Amino acid sequence: MVTELTYHANIFPGTRDELLAKIEKQLKTKRFKHVQRVEQTALRLAEANGVDLEKASIAGLTHDYAKQRPAEDFIQTIKDYQLAPELLNYGNAIWHGVVGAELIKHELGIYDEDILNAVRHHTTGAAYMSPLEQVVYMADFIEPARDFPGVDDARRLTDKELAMGVAYQAKHTLAYLIDNNQPIYPKSLDTYNAWVPQYPNV
Ligand SMILES: [Fe+2]
Ligand SMILES: [Fe+2]
Repeated sequence: MVTELTYHANIFPGTRDELLAKIEKQLKTKRFKHVQRVEQTALRLAEANGVDLEKASIAGLTHDYAKQRPAEDFIQTIKDYQLAPELLNYGNAIWHGVVGAELIKHELGIYDEDILNAVRHHTTGAAYMSPLEQVVYMADFIEPARDFPGVDDARRLTDKELAMGVAYQAKHTLAYLIDNNQPIYPKSLDTYNAWVPQYPNV
């Protein structure tokens, strides 16, 4: 069942359909479908965990808003808003969340810090993540089209306890980066340390 929420809280200055139209312009069809599945999964997790549905919808739909922007846009944004210069050492995988949140703020007029943090942290996680941030982090990982070894465990753990899903993903992501000789963004390590040791069974 697809939920089409009506927005009331003026977090985004417009209707859900208007937000969808703006996002559709930024993304190829495949990714546009992904963000809609993430929204639906985020709504389900939000409902189960007492998280605001309108925020879950907006954060789910916008989390990959900047994913297909060219590198120059991110570099310019890092400079314009004086974000941490170390960010220049990373690439799209980190930028589309951390830097993408600034584009969402300034281009879509969404200033809710909880939503912006959910976007900022959706790939790396963070030592502290609000319930909304956890919902978006997990929805992106387990949306119905995701298919990787372990996704069923991730879904089961997340349904049992949201934070356990977070621990599973933090561990899985770090292991993947190490296996593939990829750089580790320090925040991903912070996420691992904050979430994984307290769940010895994930
Ligand atoms: Fe993403
Ligand atoms: Fe995503």
